[in-house]
Amino acid sequence: MSETCEAANMAMKLGTTLMIKGKIAKDVDRFAINLGEGPEKLGLHFNPRYDQSSIVLNSFDGGWGKEVVVDHLRFARGSEITVIMTFDSDGFKVTLPDLHQITFPNRLGLSQVPYLGVSDGFSITSMKFD
Ligand code: GAL
Repeated sequence: MSETCEAANMAMKLGTTLMIKGKIAKDVDRFAINLGEGPEKLGLHFNPRYDQSSIVLNSFDGGWGKEVVVDHLRFARGSEITVIMTFDSDGFKVTLPDLHQITFPNRLGLSQVPYLGVSDGFSITSMKFD
């Protein structure tokens, strides 16, 4: 899955909330929003999978960690959605468009998240850090 949108050197510290809004491609099987130290060190891989009707979360640090599979894929291909990602001491909190929350632990013990990568199939229309 190639990253089509990347940001590095972000000042995303503990306590930061990222609100990311974008359009899901009509024909996509999977897309990903990644947060971490860099493309090879991801604290959070958020990976909605239409081909498996689920959302997969994982970390990557030299290899993929253990997948967390969430059965809550309630947003459609072709739609525009807002996902809220909070990075705090409990880990990453992802709030889905229907306000369902998923918590994913900070397995890599990151204290900052300078990197954001968004794959093909999700085109950002707006983004905000708080
Ligand atoms: C792999 C997939 C990766 C990533 C990973 C997450 O099977 O190829 O893109 O989603 O699972 O565990």
